[in-house]
Amino acid sequence: MTEKKKLYIKTYGCQMNVYDSGKMQDVMLPLGYEETPEYTDADMVVLNTCHIREKASEKLYSELGRIRKVKDKLKDKGRHMIIAVAGCVGQAEGEEILSRAPYVDIVVGPQSYHRLPSLVQNIRKEKGDKVDIEFPTVSKFDFLPEESAKVGISAFLTIQEGCDKFCTFCVVPYTRGAEYSRPVSEITREAMMLVERGAKEIQLLGQNVNAYHGVDHEGNAWNLGQLITHLSKVKGLERIRYTTSHPRDMHADLYRAHAEVEALQPYLHLPVQAGSNRTLKAMNRKHTREEYFMIIERLRKLRPDIAFSSDFIVGYPGETDQDFEDTMDLVRQVGFAQCYSFKYSARPGTPASLKEDQLPEDVKDARLQALQALLFQQQKDFNASIVGKTIPVLFDREGRHEGQLIGKSPYMQSVYVSADAVHQGTILNVRVDKATQNSLTGIVADTAKAA
Ligand code: 5AD
Ligand code: SF4
Repeated sequence: MTEKKKLYIKTYGCQMNVYDSGKMQDVMLPLGYEETPEYTDADMVVLNTCHIREKASEKLYSELGRIRKVKDKLKDKGRHMIIAVAGCVGQAEGEEILSRAPYVDIVVGPQSYHRLPSLVQNIRKEKGDKVDIEFPTVSKFDFLPEESAKVGISAFLTIQEGCDKFCTFCVVPYTRGAEYSRPVSEITREAMMLVERGAKEIQLLGQNVNAYHGVDHEGNAWNLGQLITHLSKVKGLERIRYTTSHPRDMHADLYRAHAEVEALQPYLHLPVQAGSNRTLKAMNRKHTREEYFMIIERLRKLRPDIAFSSDFIVGYPGETDQDFEDTMDLVRQVGFAQCYSFKYSARPGTPASLKEDQLPEDVKDARLQALQALLFQQQKDFNASIVGKTIPVLFDREGRHEGQLIGKSPYMQSVYVSADAVHQGTILNVRVDKATQNSLTGIVADTAKAA
């Protein structure tokens, strides 16, 4: 039997990275690596990085500095800690990481995780490649095992990767590469495996998930609407979600799925980024504010209780007061359940970073503050609007207090109740009696079940 080794993975950024970290754990299992919650005694540390946030590479180097101290300590005890940098910063910086932090053993891009075991073996033999940030012609999914060590009640399933949209501010098309969709049969198999192992909800992931165009066994391309309708037939799969979508890729089958597929949850994360047509055009978003309103209206007609979430960037180069006001106006008109908002920050290598009309920090700060105040208010209002209603909640974890269960509403809110732990993994109706900005509390309405 292989001797057990400790693997510590720290994940930054999006759900895509969370999914990838799980897969990295899976590919390292056959080499005897098991997950550990702390890096102080780890045989291998993987930092699965995100390039979207500000100062991503500086933050990486300071984290690496801390880990290096532990690596040195272990070295004194005769142990070698393998440090690997994965994810989008690894992809973007490549060899640069090895020259700035030579104690790093491996740099691996998101398309090459299936090669992690051989990169580790190279280290052990002290030879071969240390950096693998190629975009291979054969999909990484062909190599990644599906056997996951842990399957959550709500599980992720990557169906699509990469992006061909080239929004001017964004690094994703450079770090994750061109759009790729996994075949229908592979996704179906993985979904069935997840459900068999306890998942009740599946979140379909992709940087541009509604641009999905994977093929079926006859070579016909399917869209996301067709895929969701198909997956809803997997026995035992109670909830389906998908993220992240682009307004350009909403299509008839997807609208239909929102109207007809019961498992598809009435919640959509649909980033708009800005509310001014001038800014949207400058960002190369390929849609207008009017088109965004039309999508929202159409979905609300089909599924009146649908809730929306979005991403916003304030202070894009050249954004005027009026442009910003248009963003505020869009938010007021739509009414969001929950949103992410960011100050624009220049990412090396993107077209927007080369623009001369960058805005001063204080202007960006003030705009972000104003936008967030409005979004927080909307979030509070949305949560308050659920009070008094009875909603189905999927309980996926135990709370901190004895006898407390936490679950998710159809609208992605955390819901706290008192109920026996045996209900974990089930959907119960909850009458919501209180709301805060971030969560709901309530009483299980199916009393016979909750006892
Ligand atoms: N500056 C600020 N926010 C950004 N995002 C992506 N790139 C940048 C950038 N350069 C935000 C977008 C995207 C989210 C994941 O991160 O809003 O939707
Ligand atoms: Fe980035 Fe735009 Fe692609 Fe989203 S659609 S990943 S923001 S380039």
